[in-house]
Amino acid sequence: MHTRISMLWLKTLPAVITAFGLASTPMLWAAGDAERGKQLHDERCLLCHGLENYQAAASKIKSLDGLREMVRRWEDKLKDPFTDLEREDVVTYLNATFYKFPVQRKVSFKLAPHAD
Ligand code: HEC
Repeated sequence: MHTRISMLWLKTLPAVITAFGLASTPMLWAAGDAERGKQLHDERCLLCHGLENYQAAASKIKSLDGLREMVRRWEDKLKDPFTDLEREDVVTYLNATFYKFPVQRKVSFKLAPHAD
């Protein structure tokens, strides 16, 4: 029994470490929830422009970081700015739908096997 618990921990630990690694470096990728981002965006960001802004050939945005900065900038105009998580959702939505900057997904989760 004792051995079994330790084995489970050994197998789970890499995933735990990976999760911490992700949490501490969220700026490297757009890891948000695109569906939620679309909702947030459509509720709050369509006051001044529509989606055509995001398809401008002359876009000044050249990277995922640039996109994130731009969202942050426009968010300042809102009464109710996004939380960091909400911003990631919106960035993820805009990137997945319009900008399509390469996203570094280093996620290699190994799910811990069920203890039986
Ligand atoms: C107060 C009016 C206003 C609001 C509210 C607003 N925008 Fe904008 N946005 C603009 C204008 C004007 C431009 C074009 C001028 C520019 O690019 O600097 C723009 C441009 C952008 C661009 C750049 C498009 C490109 O590729 O060049 C992005 C991205 C953007 N807005 C995202 C957002 C998001 C996300 C929100 C909600 C948080 C938002 N905007 C809310 C007025 C607004």
